[in-house]
Amino acid sequence: MEDLLQFNADNYEVKECERDGIIVTYRAFTDITYCANPVSDVQKLNLFVPEKYYHGAEINGYSLKSAPIFIPNTVGGYMEGRLDEPGVDFLGRTNTIFKALDHGYVVVAPGIRGRNTGLITKEFFVGGKADDCDKKSEMKKEKPEFIGTAVGRAPALIVDMKAVVRYLRHNELIIPGNTDRIITSGTSAGGALSSLAGATGNSADYEPYLKAIGAADAKDDIYGANCYCPIHNLENADAAYEWLFNGQNEYHKMRFENVDGKVKMTPEVGTMSDSQVQMSSELKKLFPSYVNGLGLKDSRGNTLTLDENGEGSFKEYVKEWVIKAAQSELESHDSGTRLYKLAVPGSEIDDQEYITTVYGKVSNIDWDAYVSKITRMKTTPAFDAVDLDSPENEEFGDDKIFARHFTSYSQQHDTNGNPPEIADDNIIKMLNPTKYIGVADTSKYWRIRHGAFDRDTSIAIPVILATLLMNKGYEVDFALPWGLPHSGDYDTDEMFKWIDEICKDKK
Ligand code: DHB
Repeated sequence: MEDLLQFNADNYEVKECERDGIIVTYRAFTDITYCANPVSDVQKLNLFVPEKYYHGAEINGYSLKSAPIFIPNTVGGYMEGRLDEPGVDFLGRTNTIFKALDHGYVVVAPGIRGRNTGLITKEFFVGGKADDCDKKSEMKKEKPEFIGTAVGRAPALIVDMKAVVRYLRHNELIIPGNTDRIITSGTSAGGALSSLAGATGNSADYEPYLKAIGAADAKDDIYGANCYCPIHNLENADAAYEWLFNGQNEYHKMRFENVDGKVKMTPEVGTMSDSQVQMSSELKKLFPSYVNGLGLKDSRGNTLTLDENGEGSFKEYVKEWVIKAAQSELESHDSGTRLYKLAVPGSEIDDQEYITTVYGKVSNIDWDAYVSKITRMKTTPAFDAVDLDSPENEEFGDDKIFARHFTSYSQQHDTNGNPPEIADDNIIKMLNPTKYIGVADTSKYWRIRHGAFDRDTSIAIPVILATLLMNKGYEVDFALPWGLPHSGDYDTDEMFKWIDEICKDKK
């Protein structure tokens, strides 16, 4: 029988890309369908290999078969992540694919289904390019007359990533790169995807979905996961958000629009309604029992808990991570200099009056002042919207039901009218990496970054992910870069150092 998933090593083009005076010459194997029964055109991958490897050269000690396989994704806002190639990212920066090839990695740039796959939509998200939405016409969000069939809802994104990994393993003898050194990377929802790929290796839960799209019968665990501000743990994210922002009733959002092919960002400031303020207090109260049930420990083995007011060792521990971030910035001024264009205006470390330093050491941060400095971005509930109008509500919809709740709190407080639907427990679980740590074949190596001024999710959420991993013995490089908002790919040199370090035995 013909193997539909066989890699064709002869089907490539040699291409060149120049950025910042550097020319990268690479072999481009493009538009490869990575599963036998795709349901969308997006389920394809591009594979890029430094051309030098075919002429016997090494780059940074790597060769054609020893090079790590780096898989960045373009998922944002739980929307479809399109296939990518060396060039620029949505901010016009030299993209990670280019840099990774230059550094000697084999790069796989997959297309991944998202909540808009199969639908006609004008929406786009941070990380998308303005022209992404030009090709399609307006979609009515009022359900159920939306146009098209949603074929990319949860758990499709992680199913596709697993299918990509399986495709590579299925072809491990002929594919360029080392299939034992697969490292994923992504930002925000794409960071959540990377963390899912890292946490859920070979879990049987996804098997029926993988079978349905005709994924190769191979292992799908990965070696390392690099995750920028992963928007994950969605069913606990509302409570975590209010634990942090309760009392902050003003919100500060950014509206993204496509105006004449350019991304236009308009700041939007408002005040939460009385019912939102009330929900904030109710949701905040749900957080301590969640945290206390996790059995988290700090590096000295002390248990991390919260009392019913949300105070306690866990809060002190989160604060310690922020203090560490401030200390690091005080010493390096990296965000204030190298990343000054990206950093939140007014976040310069030397101007933060709520930070106490003693002889160059950050000794304390006034927590409430820090929280009011970074400001609330989202109204309550931040993720499971009571009117079902959040990206995450759509993510938990399917081809029949446009959007669903994923917390019983928001289901009970639904204002949408129709009998409120809640997603199936298993689907909610399959989108939550924290549920799989140490249960599935979880990656040994993790790198997690979440800007200390990122308000897209509570800072408690990445801290919990990192701590659960550390507590179970995984190797985690975790930091909250000072002053940075919701963003990724701002420290590729460091990321590559991390990859080289974890792969050094295999060169
Ligand atoms: C993303 C940002 C969000 O605030 C969110 O709720 C989901 C996804 C993103 O940038 O991918």
